[in-house]
Amino acid sequence: MHVHWHGSHIEVWTPAKLNLFLELLAKRQDGYHELETLMVPITLYDTLYFRDEARGQIGITCELAAGCSEQTALAAEALPEGTDNSALKAVRLVRERTGHQRGCQLHLVKRIPLAAGLAGGSSDAAAALVAANLGWQLGLSQAELMSLAGELGSDVPFFLSQQAAVCRGRGERVAPFGPLGSLHFVVARPPAGLSTADVYRASRVAEQRRSVEPLASALRGGDLVTVGRLLHNQLQTPAEELSPWIRRLDREFARHDLLGHQMSGSGTSYFGLARHARQARRVAAAIQARGVGSVYAVRTCR
Ligand code: C5P
Repeated sequence: MHVHWHGSHIEVWTPAKLNLFLELLAKRQDGYHELETLMVPITLYDTLYFRDEARGQIGITCELAAGCSEQTALAAEALPEGTDNSALKAVRLVRERTGHQRGCQLHLVKRIPLAAGLAGGSSDAAAALVAANLGWQLGLSQAELMSLAGELGSDVPFFLSQQAAVCRGRGERVAPFGPLGSLHFVVARPPAGLSTADVYRASRVAEQRRSVEPLASALRGGDLVTVGRLLHNQLQTPAEELSPWIRRLDREFARHDLLGHQMSGSGTSYFGLARHARQARRVAAAIQARGVGSVYAVRTCR
């Protein structure tokens, strides 16, 4: 996440994430799943602008970034401009909990595809928490922000940690991973998305649960071949039952000499781990030409 002050407003660049590993450990009484996931922030960003409003009103406008591909533009109909916008919910929650009286005008430039398993909405919410804390000069601690983030959604705390992390609980317990070299990915978002709740509903807890440790240790050692082999997402099988795009993308990615590939989060985005930036760009162009949606060559955020 990159934060810039411009006198009267704050600009926050907030990234998407990929799940290199996601295992379901148990189904909980509250309907959520206990999980273990390793997430990395990637260089695909939404931009949130925050302007303080002395009269106390809160509002948001949204636009699709210039240059977004046709398939993403189709999702423009679903631009999250309404009252359930995650950034709007975040600033409302901050005001409610702090009793703060001022308002704000938010403007969101969307690049991260929606319903994609890339946590764009959660990232926007985290950006809004950071912007409100700065813009309203509230002085909330990181622990206080993390707690608000956990209320807003399972993935929101991860974005406040601003680095790769292993997340547990329903995702809100974040253990930062520490320094990580650049990893290069190809990410494809097919023309149709999936609802996170639908995918979890169709999922099941594995009998033989995998641990994140072998993958984490390969990552620490910079052994990308092993990282590619150990990629895992327990939500991929249920997502394949709900969207034909997952198997289609699996076939498309398998045509290339990538280190590994799988779905991210609850889908429908699919990604491959490339050997280097050049390969990521080459494979992204080849997959884009196959008409499977929006395709990006990205790397982990520094
Ligand atoms: O927390 P968030 O709002 O992102 O979750 C969206 C939905 O995904 C939840 O309502 C729940 O159905 C499902 N979910 C789950 N277990 C998790 C995270 C999300 O079942 N750990």
